[in-house]
Amino acid sequence: MDLLTCCVVGTRPEAIKMAPVIMELRKECGMHPYVLATGQHAEMLRQSLSFFQILPDADLAIMRDRQSLDYITASVLSGVGEALDKVRPDLVLVHGDTSTTFASALAAFYRRIPVGHVEAGLRSGNLYLPFPEEANRLLVDRISTLLFAPTEWAKNNLLAEGYDASKIWVTGNTVIDALLWGIEKVKSPNLPELKQIPETDRILLLTAHRRESWGEPLYAICRALRQILAEEDGLWAVIPVHKNPAVREIMAKELYGMSKVILCEPLDYPDFIWAMKRSTLILSDSGGIQEEATAIKKPVLVLREVTERPEALNSGTAILVGHDTEKIVTESLRLLRSNEAYEELIERSGYPFGTGDAAKRIATAIKEAVQKGYLRDAFGRRD
Ligand code: UD1
Ligand code: UDP
Repeated sequence: MDLLTCCVVGTRPEAIKMAPVIMELRKECGMHPYVLATGQHAEMLRQSLSFFQILPDADLAIMRDRQSLDYITASVLSGVGEALDKVRPDLVLVHGDTSTTFASALAAFYRRIPVGHVEAGLRSGNLYLPFPEEANRLLVDRISTLLFAPTEWAKNNLLAEGYDASKIWVTGNTVIDALLWGIEKVKSPNLPELKQIPETDRILLLTAHRRESWGEPLYAICRALRQILAEEDGLWAVIPVHKNPAVREIMAKELYGMSKVILCEPLDYPDFIWAMKRSTLILSDSGGIQEEATAIKKPVLVLREVTERPEALNSGTAILVGHDTEKIVTESLRLLRSNEAYEELIERSGYPFGTGDAAKRIATAIKEAVQKGYLRDAFGRRD
């Protein structure tokens, strides 16, 4: 078999979650991964890829300050389209639900190149939450040939929408592969501010970046954090602030200069893994962090109204708290103060997102799809 697979990455989570797949395809004889970065994220993409020693074969470097959805979609569509015309891959792999994911899948579809969707089938059930990610997932699944669902629940979503079972593989989530690969390499943090936290003190780790969190919800989160810190002794807040100015302006205004608050640049993946492991409690609106926290058995309060990852709520360590200051404070203090409540959450959680072999399963599924002629048949005869 000789298969040229174009793996597209644009943002931090795509880099982290596609890295295990790229590494696995590199190991497989006859599967040639070509890494195409759209550069929807700049520093955050480079930072994440470099930990996995992945240097893109091409980088479209499209990022602009305060870029609009229209701008990202249009520039990725034309940039990836041109790249595909040059590279002529047999398969395009995209990950998740970003604008890069959607526009790259569309560019491949327009060229009748089969698309494999990593992390297919996630649904919040509300087209506008998260926005625009829920729509991106639906659209990408619709134009994909191979669907790599991380869990049975995701597979069932696809089946309920009428997708052909033979094109769906349940693989686990590749973020667990990345986490387990990385965790072995992390002994202590690199960032000096993290080293200064006394070993006897506890850490609350906070991240927020979703569009739904911009404006008033972020103020509500910051108010909650101030209250929690005021009520708990020996508690530090580590807050790696997303590069998005819509997030940075509010976080800096509300939290800068507070004692026991480490407001820092986005952490590189090893330092972030260290921070997750070392933290007592995580507060986040991130998708990937819900999965990672579950795998390392850390409670995570999800700062969202809905989640497309109910497994993290049902058999993980996540609790949905939304953006309500009161609720965030109450739930945080309950877990910080009651060993019983804390242990109960940890004990009920399993490994709903897999145990770290998702990339291998995806590589095996691709080989199976090639053997069964799914790529050849995706658009009828290809010229
Ligand atoms: C994007 C994704 C979101 C994903 C998130 C992961 C879309 C529409 N949104 O949101 O689904 O959860 O990435 O983090 O695809 N910036 C920098 N440097 C960087 C990255 C971002 O300066 O390395 C700034 C730029 O001003 C940029 C802005 O952040 O314009 C927003 O970036 P963008 O990718 O549009 O949105 P995110 O909020 O990062
Ligand atoms: N992450 C990181 N450094 C940080 C914050 C997050 O490396 O400072 C990692 C985190 O471990 C996870 C991924 O970034 O794997 C999640 O990305 P993000 O929250 O930006 O996006 P989402 O998952 O919500 O799409």
